[in-house]
Amino acid sequence: MKSIQSNIKKAKEYLDNNCCIAVPTETVYGLAGNAYSNTAIKKIYKLKKRPINNPLIVHYYNLKQLKKDCDLNDNFLKLYKRFSPGPITYILKLKKKSMISKLITNNKKSLAVRFPRHDLLKNLLKNLKYPLAAPSANISSRLSSVNASDVKEEFGKKIKFILDGGKSRIGLESTIINLLDKPSILRYGGLNISDIEKILNKKLLIKINTKNKISPGLFALHYSPGIPLRMNIKLPKKNEAFVLIKKRKIHLNNYYYLTKKKNLDEAAKNLYAILRKIKKDGFNKIAVEKIPNRGIGKAINDRLYRASKY
Ligand code: TXA
Ligand code: MG
Repeated sequence: MKSIQSNIKKAKEYLDNNCCIAVPTETVYGLAGNAYSNTAIKKIYKLKKRPINNPLIVHYYNLKQLKKDCDLNDNFLKLYKRFSPGPITYILKLKKKSMISKLITNNKKSLAVRFPRHDLLKNLLKNLKYPLAAPSANISSRLSSVNASDVKEEFGKKIKFILDGGKSRIGLESTIINLLDKPSILRYGGLNISDIEKILNKKLLIKINTKNKISPGLFALHYSPGIPLRMNIKLPKKNEAFVLIKKRKIHLNNYYYLTKKKNLDEAAKNLYAILRKIKKDGFNKIAVEKIPNRGIGKAINDRLYRASKY
């Protein structure tokens, strides 16, 4: 308990001094900085090698804090009540008077906001006088981090402090929903679309691979392990690592299981860690068998599809 409090204190000191640090969330680790500080935000973009036209998600502790920065609409309030804190990011209208750094939004009039559920991060946010901008803690276009050790692997000594909150419980990024006009999904993620539809009582528009991208971050090639990946494969080639959805006997050597019993939540949680491991084990190609395209399987397939653009 004492060490938790002292780590939170340390994290706060870094953030108060406009440094960026890594923080755990239930989806993936974030590279966090004071969302009101241009200095801190510049550091995030530099460290991640992220193009400045790709806006960041801002993480809040509660509604009171958010009200200073965004206009809240009815759809948002319904979803917030049911799903936050949790793995959902809302695109809302930014208030003119908001103190959010212009670098976060690339001067856009909207802001991506999320209320993370991870206890350690909630505890930290509660102690801060500002919300935290935090993109996923990885070099741009690479795999997100689901462990403190992944963050170290991505940034080495360039990252000053990692608040270690264990392995991310969900393991894939948040679902992004645009609430500026008709609700539309911009990224599949930790929360199922059908659950959101139930609360809003309507079918959602899916604007994921549309030409006119609303989320600049969702270009092809993303979430890449850094080696070629093929999906929906029945029989891998000789030198490929083969990723299976569930444990079973096969007559090959080079295989990895995402789950014991085809549980898609477990598969999502293990996906990035297994892709990282395959690369570390020395493979330079990956084949993945077909993953059921339902529930969080949609988010898994979305990430695999982008990784396959290598
Ligand atoms: O689970 C998550 O969402 C993690 C954790 C750390 O919270 N964060 C995360 O951030 O995945 P990032 O930066 O890797 O992905 C954010 C996505 C990007 O594709 C970005 O283009 C999009 O959100 N985005 C940010 N602001 C936006 C806006 N105002 N309108 C549309 N898309 C936006
Ligand atoms: Mg990312």
